[in-house]
Amino acid sequence: MDLQDAIRGRRSIRAFRNEEVPRDLLAQLIEAAIWAPSASNAQTWRFVIVTEPKRIRSIKTVSPGLLGDPAAVIAVCQDLAAARERGGTLGETFLAPVDAAMATENLLLAAYAEGLGTCVIASFHRGAVGRVLGLPEGIEPMLLVSVGWPAEAPPAPSRSREGRVFFEVYNGSG
Ligand SMILES: Cc1cc2nc3c(=O)[nH]c(=O)nc-3n(C[C@H](O)[C@H](O)[C@H](O)COP(=O)(O)O)c2cc1C
Repeated sequence: MDLQDAIRGRRSIRAFRNEEVPRDLLAQLIEAAIWAPSASNAQTWRFVIVTEPKRIRSIKTVSPGLLGDPAAVIAVCQDLAAARERGGTLGETFLAPVDAAMATENLLLAAYAEGLGTCVIASFHRGAVGRVLGLPEGIEPMLLVSVGWPAEAPPAPSRSREGRVFFEVYNGSG
C-alpha cells in the first residue's frame, strides 16, 4: 500500500466483525511497532497482546474509551524504571510516552495496510489494566490499541491547517 494512502486512509474503528485475527498478523503489527524510532534507541516499550475474550472483557470494564468488541487489544506499555535509568526524569516523563506513541502509529498503519481496523485508547484506568495484564512494578500501560476486522468505514474527521501550520516563524506566512 502507498504510504500516503495509508496515512490518510487510516481511521479510528470502533465496530468490529466477530472474527479472529491470526496470531502471525498480530506479531507483524508488533514488528512494525518496534521499527519505530526511540530516543537513544532505548526500546523501553513493552507490548502485551490480549486475545482471550474474557480478558478483553475485563479490560473493557475499566476502559470507558474502548468501544466495540475487538478481536485483540494491544497494550503499549513502557518500562518506566528502565526509561528512568537511561534518561532520568526526562526519559521517564517525556521520552517514554513519546516513544510509545511513535511505536503505536507504526502499528496502526501496518494494521491498516493489512485491512485491519484499530483505535488508540487513552481513556482507561491504568492501575486496573495493569492488574488485568499482570504488569510488574515499573511497567506502565501508556496506550491501548483495539484491533479487529472493521465493521464500519467512518468518514474522515476533518483536518484543519488554518492557524496550525507556519513557515519559518510562528505566525509567519512564508
Ligand atoms: C492519544 C490518543 C488517545 C485516544 N483515545 C481514544 C479513546 O480513549 N477512545 C476512542 O474511541 N478514541 C480515542 N482516540 C482516537 C481519536 O478520537 C481519533 O484518532 C480522532 O478522532 C481522529 O480520528 P481518526 O483516527 O479516524 O483520524 C485517541 C487518539 C489518540 C491519538
